[in-house]
Amino acid sequence: MAEEKQLTLFEHGDAEDSMVEQMNLWSAEAESNQSTAQAIPSWSAAAHISAPVAVPLSAHPKGLWETSVVRAPDLPDLDAVAREAKECRRCKLGGMRKNAVPGEGNPHARIMFVGEGPGADEDAQGRPFVGAAGRVLDKLIASMGLKREDVFIGNVVKCRPPGNRVPAPDEVEACMPYLARQIELIDPDILVILGATALKALVDPNASITRMRGKWLERSGIRIMPTFHPAALLRDTSKKALVWEDMKKVRACMKDFEA
Ligand code: URA
Repeated sequence: MAEEKQLTLFEHGDAEDSMVEQMNLWSAEAESNQSTAQAIPSWSAAAHISAPVAVPLSAHPKGLWETSVVRAPDLPDLDAVAREAKECRRCKLGGMRKNAVPGEGNPHARIMFVGEGPGADEDAQGRPFVGAAGRVLDKLIASMGLKREDVFIGNVVKCRPPGNRVPAPDEVEACMPYLARQIELIDPDILVILGATALKALVDPNASITRMRGKWLERSGIRIMPTFHPAALLRDTSKKALVWEDMKKVRACMKDFEA
């Protein structure tokens, strides 16, 4: 019930609403939350920089997906990755799933979103982000003038952890080669990291999403924007204004790439 109420805060009109209208509405909402935005602690002052700062690649460590620790399997394309993930028994989650959720979207996506792992709805359908958090993600994507089919949506683990618990380190490690290969094959310009699990898995096990959200990172030539997980917005609407700021930066960066 609380979840439903929160979700309606993202609902803003009929299906025929234009993307621009959607964005304006969310923007207006973000402005009306300004007291929340002003309460952002000073570490997020960088949140107001709209374009990514160009930093020499050599200054950055490789992405985890490119390290020797995680060798992406030599699978030729995303369909092959999906087929392999659907048969996978590399960790105990493989024996518990109804369906693996390899991820879906445009194989040439310029933006890739990475969440934590499937929940009950995703496990039932074999598709990522199709439950309540997925409806929030759909709004985020639409607010950037994009459709789901324009982007690629993946997860750190491809099988549902029981009770929606956070995936264990051995499960993340066992599953990382699939995500690694997806990133390698898609080679997006921008990776949007949704929440703490994906941030820790892809960037740094000690990273804090609260401290790092809204700040551009760069790994292996890919710009990375960490932000809160959509499910966190359902629990705490004050995070919406922050995620809105983060998505504005992603949009600005997309425009830079298009220019
Ligand atoms: N949460 C996630 O992290 N991934 C999904 O696919 C759905 C919910």
